[in-house]
Amino acid sequence: MVGYYEVRKQWEANPIEFWQAAANRIDWIRAPKEVLDESRAPIYHWYPDGVLNTCTNALDRHVVLGRGDQIAIYYDSPLTESKRAITYQELLDQVSLFAGGLASLGVHKGARVLIYMPMIPEAAVAMLACARLGAVHSVVFGGFAAAELAARIDDAEPAVIVMASCGIEPGRIVEYQPIVEEAIHLARHKPTSVVVLQRPQSPAVLGEHEIEWHDLLATATRHDPVPVHANDPLYILYTSGTTGKPKGVVRDNGGHAVAMAWSFTNVYGMGPGDVWWAASDIGWVVGHSYIVYAPLICGATTVMYEGKPVGTPDAGAFWRVIEEYQVNGLFVAPTAIRAIRKEDSAGSHLLEHDIKSLRTLFLAGERLDPSTFEWASEHLGIPVVDNWWQTESGWPIASNLRGLDPMPIKSGSPSVIVPGYDVQIFDVQGNVQPPGTEGEIVIKLPMPPGTLPTLWGDDQRFIDSYLSAFPGYYTTGDGGYFDDEQYLHVMGRTDDVINVAGHRLSTGSMEAVVSANPMVAECAVIGVHDEIKGQIPRAFVVLKVGVEVDPMVLRNTIVAAVRDEIGPVAALKEVVIVPALPKTRSGKILRATMRGIADGREVVVPSTIEDVGVLEAITPLLQGDSASD
Ligand code: COA
Ligand code: AMP
Repeated sequence: MVGYYEVRKQWEANPIEFWQAAANRIDWIRAPKEVLDESRAPIYHWYPDGVLNTCTNALDRHVVLGRGDQIAIYYDSPLTESKRAITYQELLDQVSLFAGGLASLGVHKGARVLIYMPMIPEAAVAMLACARLGAVHSVVFGGFAAAELAARIDDAEPAVIVMASCGIEPGRIVEYQPIVEEAIHLARHKPTSVVVLQRPQSPAVLGEHEIEWHDLLATATRHDPVPVHANDPLYILYTSGTTGKPKGVVRDNGGHAVAMAWSFTNVYGMGPGDVWWAASDIGWVVGHSYIVYAPLICGATTVMYEGKPVGTPDAGAFWRVIEEYQVNGLFVAPTAIRAIRKEDSAGSHLLEHDIKSLRTLFLAGERLDPSTFEWASEHLGIPVVDNWWQTESGWPIASNLRGLDPMPIKSGSPSVIVPGYDVQIFDVQGNVQPPGTEGEIVIKLPMPPGTLPTLWGDDQRFIDSYLSAFPGYYTTGDGGYFDDEQYLHVMGRTDDVINVAGHRLSTGSMEAVVSANPMVAECAVIGVHDEIKGQIPRAFVVLKVGVEVDPMVLRNTIVAAVRDEIGPVAALKEVVIVPALPKTRSGKILRATMRGIADGREVVVPSTIEDVGVLEAITPLLQGDSASD
């Protein structure tokens, strides 16, 4: 067997040959002769002359090869007490028909379709139907509010919105129709139609431009896959950046398909017939890559779970699902394991289930803290594998490659750099840092297939946001270091992005909402440590001169505003009134210093600080001591 170091060397010696060979895992309508187009560097295009259809690769080809009766999707929803098993043949039928329905509404190759749906199979059907048509989907996570949805509608300009009538959170139904209606009202761009999947828990009363999912199917005819160029976009996925305006990460068809096939096999060690469960949400990149595309492109069975790790019904929920579907690989955010450990630290629910089928637990989305790693390793008795990546990369940058060459696992590190990525640690001047020294994690261009080629409609923002700090390199926004064995240690974000329960959020957009409060003179929102969610946002607020307000009233007003403007997922619950914020003598808020303290890093207080006493006063509040809210 060829090991990790050998494969890495092969890639280093000839990346073009490496990615040419990897492309053979995909069925092309016209196989690419050219592997990499560098003519528009720093914007790169993989497989520029290749032609394919992603949906064909995910569905049709498996049916042709005799996997039609294999389960493609297990849907399991403790929140609605329902379950479904959908075969590849059934999924292909549903997708072809829904693609026909979308086509009848005018959706064509290149048109955008916004999908606002919870964790139900129809969400995957809608995504794959877009892929079949060569249309570009943009899935928006259900926990975002109308204003966020409106921003995405204006940026992507979808012809059609596909939604469900509601999502379900424990103890509450989230009506989607009022959110979508308000978003369309707020947006400048107006989609021509809205397709609504009625859920019995709360059906919507349909308006003039709304069509019921089944009514659309009733008159639809099946649609064949539409050939697309490898560089045609498959989807746009909006993610939080430093500013309030979300970034529309573009994923192309060809490079993405190759990366999904390569990573599912080599990183996750999964293959045809395996049962795989990524317990995330289709609204995040994990959902795109590893609930829908990678497992289906590889002919595996994917589990779609609509529920939480605890309380639905108890902290044994995950182990029940693993036993019931004989899951071979589980992917989840560490926060879910922390939630389970809190409820069942002895792991007694594990004893109620036979989870022998589970080969590996993969954790990502936020830093894997050593105690969570140790608890999971001890109680599950299988490899617990950290993997580090982001919406922009679309697939792991650093991991222990279980399918290629399982390596020793070290607590605190996602292990080694995945072949295809050339990762360096830089100081602020762009000097390479020696092992053990922390710095900015950057990736040498070109990044491999499947990584973002650009931001939707905004090449310049792509260059300014990611490629300008260190020309020739992509800036990840994460800080970390290599150890002596070239294992990467990722320590946390170096910008205004935070990870709350594995959900990526912008403190900048929360600050915009908090600052809009008429009582607030200025504010800074910082991520602070939380036992379950890893990080939670905490707002430090300076009141306008003369304002006197009950801190609880202020807190409630601000929390409600953030919930209304950004959505419940923003989870801002803590507001602290402070007399002043730490600033430089020229008046700039020392956010980076505050972040460093909050992350537990050793921080050098800048010599330009105006009043060190202000920083000292808020230090305990940054370090995670409960805010006096
Ligand atoms: N639609 C509407 N609201 C949603 C939502 C959705 N899809 N997802 C979350 N919310 C709401 C929650 O109901 C909650 O509302 P509340 O403040 O009224 O209670 C709020 O957003 C915050 O949600 P969350 O941060 O998820 O907290 P939680 O207490 O509901 O659950 C965990 C905590 C740890 C159980 C949960 O976050 C979890 O399972 N995380 C797994 C991580 C994950 O999927 N990461 C994706 C990347 S890998
Ligand atoms: P997202 O784009 O939502 O996937 O979030 C990406 C960000 O989550 C990264 O930039 C990191 O800050 C964080 N992240 C993801 N995986 C890990 C990991 N394994 N270790 C540390 N941080 C992680």
